[in-house]
Amino acid sequence: MRHLISPLDLSVEELDELLVLANDIEKNPQKYAHACDGLKLATCFYEASTRTRLSFEAAMLNLGGSVLGFSDAKSSSAAKGESVSDTIRVISCYADICAIRHPKEGAALVASSKSGIPVINAGDGGHQHPTQTLTDLLTIYSLKNRLGNMTIGLCGDLKFGRTVHSLIHALIRYPGIKFVLISPEELRIPDYIREDVLKKNNVPFMELERLEDALPDLDILYMTRVQEERFFNEEDYVRMKDFYILTKEKLKLAREDMLILHPLPRVNEISVEVDDDPRAVYFKQAQYGVYVRMALILTLLKWR
Ligand code: CP
Repeated sequence: MRHLISPLDLSVEELDELLVLANDIEKNPQKYAHACDGLKLATCFYEASTRTRLSFEAAMLNLGGSVLGFSDAKSSSAAKGESVSDTIRVISCYADICAIRHPKEGAALVASSKSGIPVINAGDGGHQHPTQTLTDLLTIYSLKNRLGNMTIGLCGDLKFGRTVHSLIHALIRYPGIKFVLISPEELRIPDYIREDVLKKNNVPFMELERLEDALPDLDILYMTRVQEERFFNEEDYVRMKDFYILTKEKLKLAREDMLILHPLPRVNEISVEVDDDPRAVYFKQAQYGVYVRMALILTLLKWR
């Protein structure tokens, strides 16, 4: 049995196979419509979500399976003090596979150590969000026909943005990747990623504060929201929240073939006027999230 706790739990070859499967699912959905007949997915969400939870549920329903779960810790027995370890042991009696989101870093890993079914990390605090990474990789792979030889700008809250941390881990395994890390001083990438992931693996990167300085060189611009829920005080969040706003005017500096991704939800960091630009693919990206989660559910169930 395998779990998905970090993007590195899949080898590059396994990841490539998953993306090919997701592309096939997109083209031939009927072929997979009964692939999970009689099987159940549990979604255990201790933290708010729209895309991740609902795309997991849509994925399992598209595969012919069923879903059960909770979308709020307060409506589960966590409110009575039950541990994640005990909860997953019980869920293992009710479902065949589980997606879990929790505000504490490492919660999905703890769950996987006690689980009788495959566990998928659907986001653990400010740490990792591997299925968003699969979504991001499928979006880039499908629209650019490659995952290597690219300059990727990551912009916004690089300190708390778990999608950025997971994406960096995954992309450094491809050749010719360069990162431009665009953030205010207070929201720079954590030291462990700069030192242990980027420098240790000799991955070229630069850190900038001005988005305008980075835009002309980028193949991909990955915008992120400032993560209000991870700030210790409201004052700091208010000061940071509108630091970056991507507008049509700023986009004039970018290449015609640059793609704009965003894991969503968006707050103010991309002006709605940008949505009509052909380079804005963040809603398409949310759709890719369903295909890749279908591929992931199928793959983890096959490996049981
Ligand atoms: N991208 C993402 O994780 O969105 P949700 O928080 O809505 O699941």
